Formats: sequence, C-alpha cells, structure tokens
Amino acid sequence: MKKVDVVLGLQWGDEGKGKVVDVLTPNYQAIARFQGGPNAGHSLKFEGKSFVLHTVPSGIFRDEAMNIIGNGVVIDPVILAEEIADIEKMGVDVTKRMVISKRAHLILPTHRALDAASEAAKGKTKIGSTLKGIGPAYMDKTGRNGLRVGDILQPDFEERYNALKRKHEDMLRQYAYAYDITAYEKAWFEGIENLRRFEFVDSEQLVNENLKNDISILAEGAQGSLLDIDFGTYPYVTSSNTLCSGVCNGLGVAPTRIGNVYGIFKAYCTRVGSGPFPTELFDTTGETLRQIGNEFGATTGRPRRCGWLDLVALKYAVMMNGVTELIMMKRDVLNDFPTIKVAVAYEVDGKQVDYFPYECNDDIVPVYREFAGWNCDICGVRKYEDFPAEFKQYVEFIEQETGVPVKIISVGPDRAETIVR
Ligand code: GDP
Ligand code: IMO
Ligand code: MG
Repeated sequence: MKKVDVVLGLQWGDEGKGKVVDVLTPNYQAIARFQGGPNAGHSLKFEGKSFVLHTVPSGIFRDEAMNIIGNGVVIDPVILAEEIADIEKMGVDVTKRMVISKRAHLILPTHRALDAASEAAKGKTKIGSTLKGIGPAYMDKTGRNGLRVGDILQPDFEERYNALKRKHEDMLRQYAYAYDITAYEKAWFEGIENLRRFEFVDSEQLVNENLKNDISILAEGAQGSLLDIDFGTYPYVTSSNTLCSGVCNGLGVAPTRIGNVYGIFKAYCTRVGSGPFPTELFDTTGETLRQIGNEFGATTGRPRRCGWLDLVALKYAVMMNGVTELIMMKRDVLNDFPTIKVAVAYEVDGKQVDYFPYECNDDIVPVYREFAGWNCDICGVRKYEDFPAEFKQYVEFIEQETGVPVKIISVGPDRAETIVR
C-alpha cells in the first residue's frame, strides 16, 4: 500500500510549489490539491511556455498523471473555467485528466463581495486578502451554510444558491458596501455549466482506493505554513490549514498514510499582503531582491515584500509539518550579493528567543548570522559538488539547523533548471 507524498510551502507562500510539483510529477500517477483556492498562483515554465495555475493541480501538463481537486479546496467556477480554457488551448484534454471532489465548496459571487467589504471595513488592519472570496467561503463551510460541488447535481441547486445569496446580501447591508455582481453572477452560472463536463467524485474513496492499488499520489499544498489558520501569523493568514495536517482533512487520508514531506523554501523570504515579517528589508537590498527575483504576485501582481531567510520561522515550519526533505528555491537570485544574512534568533523585549513566538509582531528584532556570498553566476553548475565553497556552507548550515537534508536546489524558473542531489 502506497502513501501520499506532500509538497508544502514553508514560508508565506510563493516558494515555487508549482514548479516543484511539475518537476516531481513524472514520479507520480496522481496529483491532488487539498486546500486553498484561486488565492493560489502556481507558476510553471517549460519548453519556452509559462503558465500560472490557480485551482488546477500542477500535474496537468504531464500526460501520465491524474489530477484531483480535493474536498478541502474552495472553487470559483468563473476562475476555474477561464483556467481550463487556457489549458485546453494548449491541446490538453482537461476533462480526461482532472476530477473534482463532490465535497469541495463553491465560492459564490457574494463571497467575493463580502471579502472586499470586510477588507474595506478593516481599513489599516486589513489582511491584504487576494479578494477571491476565500475567507467568506470557508466561513460558510465551517458555519454549515456552504454550497458544495455535489449540490450542482441536485434539482434545487438554484434555490439553495439564492437562499445563501440572500443571507450574504443581508450581511452586506450591514457593511453599507456598494457592489454589483450582475455580470459576475452570469459568468458564475456559465462556469457551473462548464463544471458539469467533469467527473464529480468521492475523492476520499478514490484516493484511498488508489493507495491500496499502489498508485502513487503527490499532494500539492497552496499558500505557506506561516499563512496557516491555526499556526500562522494570525490574523494575517489565509482561512485553511496549509500545513501537512491539511492533507488528511483536505483529501481524506489517515495520518498514517502520509509519506515523504517535501518542504519548499526560497533561499531568502517574501510575503505578499499585510502582517508580521521579522526579516523584511526596507532598503535597497530588499528592492534588489524584488527586482532580481521578479517578486510580484502571480495572482494579484502586487509587489512582494522581501527579506533575508528566517531560520527561526523555517525551523518552526519544518517541525509543524514533519518535513523529511528540503527543497531550496531561487538560489540564483542571491548570486551577486557580497554577503548573505540569515536570522538565527529573535530579540523580543531585550531577550533572545530561538522559537516562533505567539506575539509575532513588528517589535521583533532578528539576530543575524552573516555568510560570505559566492559572488558569481553559478547557474551553469549542475552538480552540487561543483558549487563554490561559500554556497555549500550556506546550504550545510541550513541542514544543520533544521536537521533535514536539502535534496533539490532550484536555480531558475524552468523545469530544467533544477539540481537533484
Ligand atoms: P508558488 O505559488 O509556490 O507556486 O510560487 P509562485 O509561482 O507564486 O512564485 C514563484 C516564482 O518564482 C514564479 O515566478 C516562478 O516562475 C519563479 N521561480 C521558481 N523557481 C525559481 C528559481 O529557482 N529561480 C528563479 N529565478 N525563479 C524561480
Ligand atoms: P500560493 O499558493 C502568497 C495571502 C494574501 C493575504 C493572506 C490572506 O500562490 O503560494 P486570502 O485571499 O487567502 O484570504 O489572503 O494570504 N495569500 C498568499 N500569499 N501566496 C499565496 O498562494 C497566497 N494565498 C493567499 O496575500 O496576505
Ligand atoms: Mg504563488
């Protein structure tokens, strides 16, 4: 019996999960998303083509793999329909390669309006949400009001939709928020019709049946560990469990059926949206990281906040996820820095702490360790042994601190720009 391997982002999202899943897919027969929704933007690059996926699993461009949208995902039929149309233009038969859980929840047009209204009402304390309706959709799920993909097949689907929409309209009146969903609602019902082409499955049955039949499955995380609803920098988080435990809830697999946990991190740190970010750089170094790393959101286009690698936060994410192998992304971005810093502890109220605290706020002062940069373009190097000593020192320090080996190093956005140790 097989186990589910997992790819997870260990920081605040955008670590490069899409690329890694695409690279690893040839080793798997099925790829499954288990949480999040169109707030995700997963970039893939191969054969001169670039793609950004939001809801569709990143295994979709490999012939052999089945792609599963699990029960823990929230779906906006408009965004999904657009995404599918774009993939179909590439000649990929998406209906044949992708199935959707009946238990996945739907994002309604009024969920988007509620997201925007809530953010506007928060003013300065806004979350910096992607405004895709994620929070309100998960609130209706836990509030037991939500509409699910399986409901599309029920004769009273439209009635249920209207009942929930009325509830949302009452809530929106309290916000005194002006909105117009007419055009989006039309596209939404077209999107629902489009979804009917797909097989709606009991994904928990399918996943467990597959494991029993020795079919290998890779679970693809969205967002990052520090955006987890329970363990992230609350309230500046997303509304789902982004940690490894989310795989159990979001796909219906038992904890004993989790195999390898691949933890992905950038060789530095980024964050998009509001919230604490202890190693954030507000100087020219931060700006250089953003420019060289092309750190602009794949979903919203917003500039990403940039800073040095935070080992305190990384160790926390490794612990919470039970990471078995680390994958370092965007190593190439650091090529030209004379020195590279890594936060190894925080100073809080004059005291040094080496764990991720409950009060993760702007008062935290990172304690840095400096490394000599490798100061040269090592993009051509394809073997770990051939890397300069300075770079190996950086990698080995991270391994020593986290206690987990760095097994893959990514040196560019393309599928081919990947070094496996
Ligand atoms: P995801 O949300 O975790 O899938 O990550 P995103 O796609 O939002 O952001 C990662 C960005 O970095 C994308 O633009 C990728 O094309 C790019 N990328 C991935 N790996 C590398 C790498 O090793 N080097 C560079 N320079 N870019 C990379
Ligand atoms: P991927 O999968 C980076 C951030 C938003 C905001 C907070 C809440 O591409 O790594 P939400 O729309 O979920 O209510 O927003 O979470 N956020 C992400 N940041 N990458 C993502 O996804 C994100 N998904 C949500 O910017 O701060
Ligand atoms: Mg992204």
